[in-house]
Formats: sequence, structure tokens, C-alpha cells
Amino acid sequence: MDKPKSSQNRSRKQSSDQAEDLIKVLSQKVVGQPTATRVIVPYIQMFQAGLAPEGRPVGVFLLLGPTGTGKTKTVEALAEVLHGSEKNVLKVDCGEFQMEHEVAKLIGAPPGYLGHRETQPMLTQQKLNSVTSEKCSLSLVLFDEIEKAAPSMTRLLLGVLDKATLRLGDNSTVNFEKSLVFLTSNLGAREMLREINPDFGFQSVRTAERTDLTSKLQAIALVAVRKRFSPEFVNRIDCIITYQPLTAESLSAILDKQIVDLQAHVNTRLGNRSFTLEVPFEARQFLLQKGTSSEYGARELNRTIHRHLTQPLATLVATNQVSPGASVRVDVAEDGQSLSIRSLDQAGGVAPTNPTVLLVDDNRDLLHFLERLMADAGWTLLTAESATEAKRLMQEHKPNAALLDYMLPDGNGVELGVEFLQAVPQMLVIVMTGTILPPEEEALCEEHNFPVLRKPFLASDVMNQIRSRLTPVAGEVRA
Ligand SMILES: Nc1ncnc2c1ncn2[C@@H]1O[C@H](COP(=O)(O)OP(=O)(O)O)[C@@H](O)[C@H]1O
Ligand SMILES: [Mg+2]
Repeated sequence: MDKPKSSQNRSRKQSSDQAEDLIKVLSQKVVGQPTATRVIVPYIQMFQAGLAPEGRPVGVFLLLGPTGTGKTKTVEALAEVLHGSEKNVLKVDCGEFQMEHEVAKLIGAPPGYLGHRETQPMLTQQKLNSVTSEKCSLSLVLFDEIEKAAPSMTRLLLGVLDKATLRLGDNSTVNFEKSLVFLTSNLGAREMLREINPDFGFQSVRTAERTDLTSKLQAIALVAVRKRFSPEFVNRIDCIITYQPLTAESLSAILDKQIVDLQAHVNTRLGNRSFTLEVPFEARQFLLQKGTSSEYGARELNRTIHRHLTQPLATLVATNQVSPGASVRVDVAEDGQSLSIRSLDQAGGVAPTNPTVLLVDDNRDLLHFLERLMADAGWTLLTAESATEAKRLMQEHKPNAALLDYMLPDGNGVELGVEFLQAVPQMLVIVMTGTILPPEEEALCEEHNFPVLRKPFLASDVMNQIRSRLTPVAGEVRA
């Protein structure tokens, strides 16, 4: 009989666990803004518990603070956590509604107006519902940069904040009772910037100074808000959250996260052709140094990552200069002004620009054909018709790759390959064969990771095998 009670306890415990989880996940996504997370989460809990008040939105938040500190990101992160996608946000760019007549785009023109049937209002019940998900029926609504909105739009907003309803041009209404409404603004941002770094050096802000700074920024934000909006408007906001300028530690954490995301993106986009990014400490410091800006916050960091890392990496990949499974290493270039990105081969060494390839086969036609093809590609081809000759060339030239026929007049190509590998461990050995290899030879190839080309094959197969496994230094780019 005590079942309902214990299940009630359990659900209470569950919901507090969920809140903890939510706070944890959110603060991983939005770095260095603990207040924002702590203030918003209880409203979500209240909604989930069915305790949100009727006749008004679940919560109304005004997010203030410098550019690029995570205001918009907070709403996107919430959408991802609650609905599974950052895109599940009904976003209104107030910059698009600066003129009185543009407000009709938002709610649709009243009947009788020319073309009222063609104007699809931006804010409809259907659109509001479309950003919910099976997981959660709460809509996230974002009015970005509200200081830019025309006065009539601010009046419309007043109704939404106060009564959770919006009357459209066709006289129907939209209900915002199951919504969290976020207003963002950079009101006061310029004054805040002046407070943060009178001489452009906010990196030096210390913890003790920061607490002081936090309350100063809050005060600046409030003054700016009161100046711009009527008291009744300000009164309908549940919480005003001032975002803090990002510290060096926060920027560093954001950078680490962006690099992890970039690797994840590479893995999903390239699948089995993907590679491993290595970004050592010095290269990260370089990105942080170039990407730190109190004016643009993490936006500058994102731009820097894009310019110095993502774009040059994209060039390497697009021009086939990264082999699958390779390590791609990012270092600070000698001039200290750029990053050098190069693909290391599997053995960890740097591969040559124009490989020297040793071809061992007693089929002269094939030799001559490949010789011409490789010469065109700027490669050097050494040819031998026997194992003995091959060993001599190998001693003399130390080629980067060896293409060995299995059946040689005086030996066996697989065993020759194993011998070569003992002398030059990073050499690429490819075995060609006209027959099926005996099991022991096949096992050797597998053990030493020799690709086996079954004859007949296309010359392009050979070239691609070599290209994909030896990554030229020409693949080094500067950014
Ligand atoms: N606190 C933060 N945590 C993680 N990423 C952030 C943070 N602040 C900014 N960013 C990064 O910078 C980009 C721009 O941030 P955004 O939230 O749009 O700035 P704003 O505060 O101007 O709305 C985001 O997409 C995100 O990649
Ligand atoms: Mg924003």
C-alpha cells in the first residue's frame, strides 16, 4: 500500500538527478557561465513537474553581456539537450523588424489588406509546436537583439510576456504557456567593454577583480536596460542574466572542445578514410593567442580556428594529401606566425614529396608502362627483373616503396618484402601476384600489412595504393 509514496520519492529523486545532469551537460556546452545555467534550469524543472504557472510563459530571460560570450549558444545548447537538436528553437532576429511595417511579417497582415493571404506570419502556433520534440513539449523562443526591434514589436512582446498570448493579423491567437522566452541584447556592451579593459588586456583580470567586475557589469547592464525599455516591460522579465567576458581558461576549454568537435566531424564525414588530428600544446597556445579578443569573445577564437586550422585542413583533404588512418600534425611554423599542418605516414615519419619506387617483376611490358606513368607523376622508378638485382638496388637507393611480384626467377616476392622491411622499417611493400597466394605467404602479407594486388590490375590501382600510403611532404601547408 505504500507503493505510491515510494514511487513519489523515486520520482522526486529522479527529477533532482535530472536537474543535476541538465546543469552538468549544459555547463559543458556553455563554458564559463555558471550563473546562466543555474538560473535557467529550475524553470525547466518546474515545467517538467507540471508546476509552471498558467497564463504566462514558463520563464522569461533577458540575456545581456559582451558579444561572443555564449548568449545565443545557451539557447541552442538547451535545444540540443531538451530536443536533440540545436535547431529546435523558434528564433526571431529582431534586426529584421526595425521598421513598423515589417512587424506584419511577424504576425501576418489583417484581413482586408492587400495580399494578406500571402503573408505567412513567422510566429504561429504551428511554428511554435514544430520546435518541440517527442522528448519534450517545451518550446524555446529566442528574440535575438531586441534592442533593434521597432516599438510596435516591443508592444507585441509585452503581451507575450504578460499573458502568454499573441494575436495574429487574422485574429487567431498563439499560446506561449509552454514556452521559455529568451531575449538577448548587447545593450550596455560597449560600456562593459570599457570596464573590462580600459587598455585592452583583459587576460590579466584576476579572480578577486572578477567578482568585482561581475557586479559592475550587472549594474551597467541594468542601467542600459532601464533606459531603453519601459518599467512594465522590465517587470515582466523573470531573470536578467549578465554574461561574463570569457577568461583565458574558458577560452582554452572552448578551443579543446572545438578540436574534439572537428575530429568528430572528420570521423563522420570521412568514415573509413578519416585521420587523427594531433594538436599539441604549442599549437593550441598559438590559436588562443591569435583568437583572444575582448571585443568579439569566442567568435574571434572560432574565426581563428577556421582560418588557421579548418580551412588548410580542408585543402589537404580535398587534394588527397591525407591518407586514411594517418596522423595529421599541427605545429607552429618557424616564423611563429602560422601553423604548419602535415600528414605523417603510419610509421610516424615524414613521407617524401616524390617517392622512389622499386619495381621487381620479370614482365618487361608492365615495367616499361609503369615507368612512364610514374615518371609523368614526378616519381622515380627503379626496376629489377630478379631478387638479386632488387637487393642491390635496395642497398644503393633505399626506395620509399617496393612493388614486388610474388613469383620471381630467383626467389619469392613476399619473403623479399619481409627482408626489405627489416632493413628499412618504414618502407611500403606491395605484393603483386598472378595466382592465389599460398596460405603461409598470405599470412606473411597480413602480418606485415602488405597490400596484395591481384593481376591483372589497372596502373591507377598501383599509383593510388602508393599515393594513399605515402603522403608527400608537398602535403604540408601553411596557414
Ligand atoms: N560560453 C561559451 N561556451 C562555449 N562556446 C561559446 C561560448 N561563448 C561563445 N561560444 C562560441 O562562440 C560562438 C558565438 O557565441 P554566441 O553564443 O552566438 O555569442 P553571443 O553571446 O554574442 O550570442 C558560439 O557558436 C560558440 O561556438
Ligand atoms: Mg547572439
